[in-house]
Amino acid sequence: MKTEHAPTIARADYRPLSWTVERIDLHFQLDPTATVVTNRMVCVRNPAAEPGPIRLWGEAQERLALTVDGAVPQGLRENATLLEIDVEGERAVVEIRSRIDPKANTTLSGLYLSSGGFFTQCEAEGFRRITWFPDRPDVMARYTVTLEADRASCPVLLSNGNLLETGELPGGRHYARWEDPFPKPSYLFALVAADLVALEREVETASGRKVLLQVWVAAADIDRVEHAMDSLVHSMRWDEETFGLELDLDRFMIVAVADFNMGAMENKGLNIFNTKFVLAKPDTATDIDYENVESVVAHEYFHNWTGNRVTCRDWFQLTLKEGLTVFRDQQFSADMLARAAGPEGAASARAVKRIDDVRVLRAAQFPEDAGPMAHPIRPDSYQEINNFYTATVYEKGAEVIRMLHTLLGPEGFRNGMDLYFSYHDGQAVTCDDFVEAMSEANNGFDLDQFMRWYSQAGTPRVGARGEWNAADASYTLTLTQHTPPTPGQDDKLPLVIPVAVGLIGPDGKDMPLQFDGEKQAGPTTRLLTLTEAEQRFRFIGLAAEPVPSLLRGFSAPVILDVEENDARLGFRMAHDADPCNRWDAAQRYAERVILALARAHAEGRVEQAPAAFVAAFRALLTDATLDPAFRAQAAALPGEAYLLERMAPADPAALRAALIGLMRELGESLAADWLALFESMQVPGPYRYHPADAGRRALANLALRYLAAAGDAAGLGHAQAAFERAGNMTERFGALAALVQSTSPARDAALAAFQARYRDDALVLDKWFALQAGAWRWQADSAPTLERVRALMNDAAFSLANPNKVYALLGTFFRANAAEFHAADGSGHAFWADQVIALNAKNPQVAARMARALENWKRYTPALQASIRPQLERVLAAAGLSPDVEEVVGKALG
Ligand code: PHE
Ligand code: ZN
Repeated sequence: MKTEHAPTIARADYRPLSWTVERIDLHFQLDPTATVVTNRMVCVRNPAAEPGPIRLWGEAQERLALTVDGAVPQGLRENATLLEIDVEGERAVVEIRSRIDPKANTTLSGLYLSSGGFFTQCEAEGFRRITWFPDRPDVMARYTVTLEADRASCPVLLSNGNLLETGELPGGRHYARWEDPFPKPSYLFALVAADLVALEREVETASGRKVLLQVWVAAADIDRVEHAMDSLVHSMRWDEETFGLELDLDRFMIVAVADFNMGAMENKGLNIFNTKFVLAKPDTATDIDYENVESVVAHEYFHNWTGNRVTCRDWFQLTLKEGLTVFRDQQFSADMLARAAGPEGAASARAVKRIDDVRVLRAAQFPEDAGPMAHPIRPDSYQEINNFYTATVYEKGAEVIRMLHTLLGPEGFRNGMDLYFSYHDGQAVTCDDFVEAMSEANNGFDLDQFMRWYSQAGTPRVGARGEWNAADASYTLTLTQHTPPTPGQDDKLPLVIPVAVGLIGPDGKDMPLQFDGEKQAGPTTRLLTLTEAEQRFRFIGLAAEPVPSLLRGFSAPVILDVEENDARLGFRMAHDADPCNRWDAAQRYAERVILALARAHAEGRVEQAPAAFVAAFRALLTDATLDPAFRAQAAALPGEAYLLERMAPADPAALRAALIGLMRELGESLAADWLALFESMQVPGPYRYHPADAGRRALANLALRYLAAAGDAAGLGHAQAAFERAGNMTERFGALAALVQSTSPARDAALAAFQARYRDDALVLDKWFALQAGAWRWQADSAPTLERVRALMNDAAFSLANPNKVYALLGTFFRANAAEFHAADGSGHAFWADQVIALNAKNPQVAARMARALENWKRYTPALQASIRPQLERVLAAAGLSPDVEEVVGKALG
């Protein structure tokens, strides 16, 4: 907790440490309230650094003993979090014993308890809450770990690497000793001591080494781990085939824990996961949960090379491992989907995955890039590193890697990866090191200008103008770029922006593309590389005026600032050969319609959607040649968060009214189509997770949503019946969601039935909380959602101490229910401040995440701003404010 203003840490201030650690031997006497940690480290002078003391960071522990080479040290300075020891010579053995209280640790960083078991979380700076250590990622040491604990309550004792020995101890206790053969930074340390069981599988790596895979969960959950294990095996194979990267350990463990701040953590050989991303069985997990488990398992597994074998020099380089690893997991998921779809459906399956990724980027990263927390994928400064596990570092970071992949081609990219590992295996490096390897492996490909993606914040705007010249059958496309100012960065330079382009002819087919100067036409989608503020590209041999299809496959993380009228959007929606752009045309058309409806509503008028839009929407929806998963994407309206970003000022009430009106209208006027779709998309037989089935279920559930939104007895009856006869969670939850987002009188009974059925199932109850917190007000006289949220906070299953519960109930309300959260009476804002203050005292990371829900408050209507400001100020003035929350709220108030 802060005592005064949280200091700012700057990337430019990086200096190597004078002393690092070669080996560390840790001994844990685990006890819920008084765990004793003995830490013996071999410290070595760093020849590459300025001379200075040994520097050790420590927090939240009581020191019992300290010796250097067996004696009480002489020169020793200390403040609340840092210990400096003056030492002569080149090496020294430092031994520290301290006591910590895992039970009192509600931050879930460091060593903590969950359901009676001990778990650790060390990224980014949790290790210093366990013992004093030079807790920075550029200190890579070899670890041996001994755990001692009560055998009855903690029969399983795990740490990184290989198990050396186990044994009994007096008093019902036992121990285990582990050794990790690979040097690693402290943030990858982990231990688990708990009552768990494992699903095990033995597999061979590509080179024929036998390895043991384990997924550890509570005994009651052992029937839901198969999918995680399968996902792990698929990830291993994919990394071998795609990048030639093998598992380097004899044993690889995944452990599920119910109390966890994030999704999962890539600790060396001992990944620790939020249960949400491990457990899946048909009765409790939706298709989307299955997909998420697969991609998070892959993500953490892939970190073993991109993150662990080669790690970050300092936390400013976070995107080095995260952007790259997100890109890898996105490619993996796309390949898995394409493989399941077969050769015919592969392209569409990949597009559906790409669309998902683009949706996330637009909903989460674009708003971040436009707000007070905007930062480059490699930030220049921070107050609290935990606040920088952001959509920018992760998702935009992955887009930057994807652009490299696009510019260099798959082979060039692979060569770059190979060179990166050959240079830097076992090292802690920077983003520059990565990009240099990419360049060097590709004949010195010039990436100097490309590096601006690492230093400039903000979402670039790309403009386009086309001019067809009938006389010489040429078409000149002028592309422009500019990036708006962000906090601390007023002026931006042009970026390298790969723009994939196709030209669509009047018949709806792609025209042959021939650049001026080319002998003949090439492929119908071509890559233009925009490097200037304005640049022209000339195509020849075009007998008719084309409609350009720009940024195909979403080839760069930019906003395409191009005005397209309804007719052109409708045309591209029907014909664009690039599925991502076809989807995007539908999104843009819907956005135009929705924002116009919202404007009308704000002016007190109720309007209808243009008939041409409804017709174009219907045509896409009912086109049986299109894969159901794609149609489900195309028929889902743009997300509210993204639309609010596109409104100036953001007016959540008007937007919500527009969305409700449009959903109703589409539900009513296309009722027959929705019903036919719902029926034809039913998947017979027992549930299996398969992308083809998942696509059908997604479309059936969407049909139900629109049918229920229409609000007539027939539509509501279908949702009700679907809920009652559902055979798996995807169907059951889809039907329940349709009922909750409607005027159905049966919604409360359905919610109660769902709750009763899953009374003891924490993860399913999270869905139940989230659904209610996200409920729209479909009837003007129904109770505000906030009343329901307040009541649910008193439900026995809710707890402010469990991040999943907080994210489900409060997170959904704050981040996914704008109109209810921003109720005109300000009740939502006052509630927000109360909850952020309450969470701050327990878990600053979770509190800061909730605090971020109001960071873009200056974009809202003046009336909402007037209601929000005093609440932000109230939080900032709260006693004992953590640096985490202070940074977020301080920057928001600016
Ligand atoms: N490094 C984790 C991941 O992206 C995320 C994480 C960060 C987990 C910090 C816990 C704490 O895979
Ligand atoms: Zn990661």
